[in-house]
Amino acid sequence: MSARKLVIAIDGPAASGKSTTAKLVAERLGYIHLDTGAMYRAITLKVLRAGIRPEDEEAIALLVRSTHVELRQAGAAAHVLLDGEDVSANIRTPEVTRAVSAVSSQRAVRSVMVREQRRMGERGGIVLEGRDIGTVVFPDADVKFFLIAGIEARARRRAEELRLSGREADAALLAQEIRERDALDSSRQESPLKRAADAIEVDTSDLTIDEQVRIVLDAVRTKMEEAGSK
Ligand code: CDP
Repeated sequence: MSARKLVIAIDGPAASGKSTTAKLVAERLGYIHLDTGAMYRAITLKVLRAGIRPEDEEAIALLVRSTHVELRQAGAAAHVLLDGEDVSANIRTPEVTRAVSAVSSQRAVRSVMVREQRRMGERGGIVLEGRDIGTVVFPDADVKFFLIAGIEARARRRAEELRLSGREADAALLAQEIRERDALDSSRQESPLKRAADAIEVDTSDLTIDEQVRIVLDAVRTKMEEAGSK
């Protein structure tokens, strides 16, 4: 049985476990992993480098038209290329994190990014993670997940990630930043962060990485069996 290659959507708020889960699920299935947040972070980096205010819609609309963001898989690692430059590390700084919600809320930015995401996903065999994958980018995705986690778990995870990359982090401050970003992402007009009606909700607060990956893979395999038996 050669199963049809699926489109898998994983959405959810900041630091809810999307990236870790999406990466491992894609690896296990031999699928592409598309971190759409990395694309919004890359254009945000370009905005900051150009000295443009993150709220300046006109200047950003112009900039985005002459920007090329590409995600490239090299073995287990995904590299983010901004106009050909590898910016995989530069897009994770606190400055980019603080500005990304303002930039990604703009229609001109989203239309370019969403077009590219649909192009990459059109043939299936892909796990996309983001905020609006199941609602806007691929409303007909084969399986949709919405990951959530309590604020303490999320701040702890982000602090650990930052420590691993050599930065000190204050969990209370991180919790505040995560709350603010969620509020901005959920309340914006364009493609707000929202659970799709048909998404499977997974609370990862008390799950190990193995457990959350297993929950997602089980649901995907059930879907594959259904698709294969049609
Ligand atoms: O990894 P983390 O949870 O910090 O966030 P991310 O996935 O890297 O996304 C960074 C930001 O990009 C989000 O806070 C959103 O503002 C924006 N984003 C979006 O608007 N739509 C997406 N599909 C993905 C990210």
